[in-house]
Amino acid sequence: MRVLVTGGAGFLGSNLVDALVARGDTAIALDDLSTGSRTNLKPGVTLRVADVSNEAALYQAVTGQEFEVIVHCASKTKVVESMEKPELYRRVIVDGTRNVLALARDRRARMLVNISTGGAIYGETPICATEETKTEPPSNYGKFKLEAERLAAEAPIPTISLRLGNIYGPRQRTDLEGGVVAIFAAAWKRGQPLTVFGDGEDQRDYVYVGDAVDAITSAFAGTWTGVFNVGTGVATSVKMLIRVMAEVLGPPPQVFYTAARAGGVELDRSCLDSSKATQTGLWRPKTTLADGLRLTLAA
Ligand SMILES: NC(=O)c1ccc[n+]([C@@H]2O[C@H](COP(=O)([O-])OP(=O)(O)OC[C@H]3O[C@@H](n4cnc5c(N)ncnc54)[C@H](O)[C@@H]3O)[C@@H](O)[C@H]2O)c1
Repeated sequence: MRVLVTGGAGFLGSNLVDALVARGDTAIALDDLSTGSRTNLKPGVTLRVADVSNEAALYQAVTGQEFEVIVHCASKTKVVESMEKPELYRRVIVDGTRNVLALARDRRARMLVNISTGGAIYGETPICATEETKTEPPSNYGKFKLEAERLAAEAPIPTISLRLGNIYGPRQRTDLEGGVVAIFAAAWKRGQPLTVFGDGEDQRDYVYVGDAVDAITSAFAGTWTGVFNVGTGVATSVKMLIRVMAEVLGPPPQVFYTAARAGGVELDRSCLDSSKATQTGLWRPKTTLADGLRLTLAA
């Protein structure tokens, strides 16, 4: 199968490309390399460099190519930055998704998998959110991802939008928001103190990247359309994350608590109920946090 992966040189995209290559598919990565890197891709994987929000450049990058499936991972991903640079975020997320959907139709793709986000779209979730939970995105990032989902739903080809929890795993950068596992692991290895913003009680739904990749490839069957949560249903506090990491890495270096990050867009609790994916046979989480951390830290 020929699969185009936008954002294919990024954290999630490159893990997906690896999995596709391993199962014998032809994966073509398309990326503007703004946060992704060629070094995330194994030798032999085709990389086309283009900005998805530039329609002409996007088409030029894949001239004459057809794809059976497109997975749209390319996105700006920083919640706080999205409040400072709304135009950039709208252009890349909304215009970029519109262009990639049109490309999918133009290249006669059978379907498109749109990578969306759970936390940023639902806002605070005292009870783990189902797909029926009211969406209340507190940030521009979440608002634009929601708009991108609507574009996908209205597209003239079958699409599925996967609302992912907090993904962690090998190759996650330490300088991007949300990569708390990568940030802590790097500090731990260097013997440097861990910095926790707030009181350490903030909770997130951590999903191992291999499980997220499974959800994406499972969607290729084309049986499912619409919106699906991809989370574990387990909300883990930062303090608990440090305790589980300590089981793998030994006692932590010092832990410093500092003021919660500014911006008013960080959530206290984010958790996704993935019953819809489980009950319809699309996906279920496989990897426990402890196992996922072992896989991440061994890589
Ligand atoms: N990591 C998470 O916890 C998480 C959670 C929910 C959703 N997501 C979604 O998963 C997807 C991948 O995120 P990630 O965590 O791998 O981040 P990432 O930054 O590693 O990946 C995004 C990729 O998109 C590329 N990109 C950015 N703007 C582009 C543009 N205009 N044109 C082409 N390429 C562009 C970047 O260079 C990068 O390679 C995103 O859609 C993100 O919103 C991630």
